[in-house]
Amino acid sequence: AASLPDSYTLRSLRRSDYARGFLDCLRVLTTVGDITEAQWDERYTWMSTQGKGGYYLLVVDDGKRIVGTGALIVERKFIHNLGIVAHIEDIAVAKDQQGKKLGLKIIQALDFVAEKVGCYKSILDCSEANEGFYVKCGFKRAGLEMAHYY
Ligand code: ACO
Repeated sequence: AASLPDSYTLRSLRRSDYARGFLDCLRVLTTVGDITEAQWDERYTWMSTQGKGGYYLLVVDDGKRIVGTGALIVERKFIHNLGIVAHIEDIAVAKDQQGKKLGLKIIQALDFVAEKVGCYKSILDCSEANEGFYVKCGFKRAGLEMAHYY
């Protein structure tokens, strides 16, 4: 597999990434809203402690700012003999950085984490427009997403 461009690093999200444009990176995906640093701190603390390791948020840092991100949420089940399932969520690569294999690297890293923590599968929801990307990442179409908005 090809490596990241020079000066780019793929690492875990840090509290200090609020000031490195993490939320702006997510804006390519959907609405983020105006999140204050205090709100960020509270959510970051929750994710890093409540789930006892259930949240894995990765970022690509180009040396100046966050240009890519992806999350893995680990769900523990009773079925499948206490099976563990990984949910891949909120994959985003900055517009001017797309097509450099950053998204692929993020998915590969999340897959590595999922397998290492003992998940028997990783699942995600995406639009038809992104199906080709996930197929290139080794995923296949399985089922149908349903939603109930409140
Ligand atoms: N359709 C088909 N193929 C694609 C697509 C696509 N939409 N996007 C990328 N690919 C291909 C690339 O051409 C490349 O193929 P190659 O290996 O033959 O050259 C391969 O997939 C890997 O592409 P990357 O360069 O790693 O993709 P990129 O870094 O641009 O990231 C991503 C792809 C994450 C979809 C990016 O375009 C993005 O952030 N889009 C906006 C936000 C978004 O839609 N995120 C996904 C939401 S779904 C979810 O979060 C679970």
